[in-house]
Amino acid sequence: MKGLVEGKVAVITGAGSGVGQAAALLFTRHGARVVVADIDAARADETVALVQAEGGEACAAHCNVADEADVERLIALAVATYGRLDILYNNAGITVTGSPGKGPKSLVETTAAEITAIQAVNVDGVLYGCKAAIAVFAQQGGGGAIVNTASIAGLIGYGGVAYGATKGAVVGLTRTLAIEVAAQGIRVNSVCPAGMPTRYGGMDATGPQADRVRQSMGSAHPLGRAIDPMDCASAALFLVSDLASNITGVNLPVDGGLSAGVPLRR
Ligand SMILES: NC(=O)c1ccc[n+]([C@@H]2O[C@H](COP(=O)([O-])OP(=O)(O)OC[C@H]3O[C@@H](n4cnc5c(N)ncnc54)[C@H](O)[C@@H]3O)[C@@H](O)[C@H]2O)c1
Repeated sequence: MKGLVEGKVAVITGAGSGVGQAAALLFTRHGARVVVADIDAARADETVALVQAEGGEACAAHCNVADEADVERLIALAVATYGRLDILYNNAGITVTGSPGKGPKSLVETTAAEITAIQAVNVDGVLYGCKAAIAVFAQQGGGGAIVNTASIAGLIGYGGVAYGATKGAVVGLTRTLAIEVAAQGIRVNSVCPAGMPTRYGGMDATGPQADRVRQSMGSAHPLGRAIDPMDCASAALFLVSDLASNITGVNLPVDGGLSAGVPLRR
C-alpha cells in the first residue's frame, strides 16, 4: 500500500521527543523524508536513529524555533538536503512548570520572563516556521501543508493561563493564515491534544503519583483513556495528507471527547 505522504518532504519541530518523535516515525512509515528538528541536538539524533532503524529516511537539525534566523536555516536545510518542502509540522512547545506535583503555575506566580519565553517558543516559533515555509511553497509554485500542535488549552479553559494564551494564539493564527494562503493552495490546520504523558511538564515521570495523575487524566476523557503522542501524530498525518485536501483552517481536538461538552451526572 502506498503511504499517505509518499515522496513528500517534511520538517517537524520538537521532533526529539513526544509528539514530534511519534510524528517523525509515522510520517516516514508513510513514505515521507523528514527533517527532525529540535533545540536538543542529541534528542534529534535519537529520533533519526529510530527512524533509520525502521528503514525510514530522516536527518537531524539543531534549531531553536524562537530564533527566526535559525528557523530560516532549518527550512533551507530541508530544501538543500531533499530538494523541496511539502509539509511543515510546527510542533515544538513548552509550558511553565510549577513545583513538582502541583500542576501548572497560576498566573500570579508566573514571571514576566516566563511569559516572554513561552510566547517566544509557542507563538513566535510557529509564526517564523509558517513564514519560512510559505516563502518556499510560493517559490515551488504553490501547494504545501502546514500543521501546528495547538492544545485543547487553546479551545477551552485547561491548565496554565500563560500556556493557554499561547495555544489560543496558535488556534487563531491557524484560521487566519489558512484564509490568507488558501489561494496559493497552501493548507494550514492544527491538532489540539489534551494532556499526554510526554517529557513536557514532567508528565513522563514514573512512580505511583505519576501513575495516579495519568489515570485521572485518562478517566477525565469520555472515551476513558489518556491521549498518546501517536494519537496526535495520526491526526497530524491525516491533516497534511491528500485525504484532507479540501480541509483548511481546522483546529482538530485530539482529546477523547474532553472538549465536546460537560457530561450529565447520572
Ligand atoms: N504533553 C501534553 O500534555 C500536551 C498537551 C497539549 C499540547 N501539547 C503540545 O504538544 C507539543 C509537543 O509537546 P510534547 O508533549 O511532545 O513535549 P516533549 O517535551 O516531549 O517534546 C517537545 C520537544 O520540543 C523541543 N523544544 C522545546 N523548545 C524548543 C525550541 N525552542 N526549539 C525547538 N525545539 C524545542 C524539546 O527539546 C522536546 O524535544 C507542544 O507544542 C506542546 O505544547 C502537549
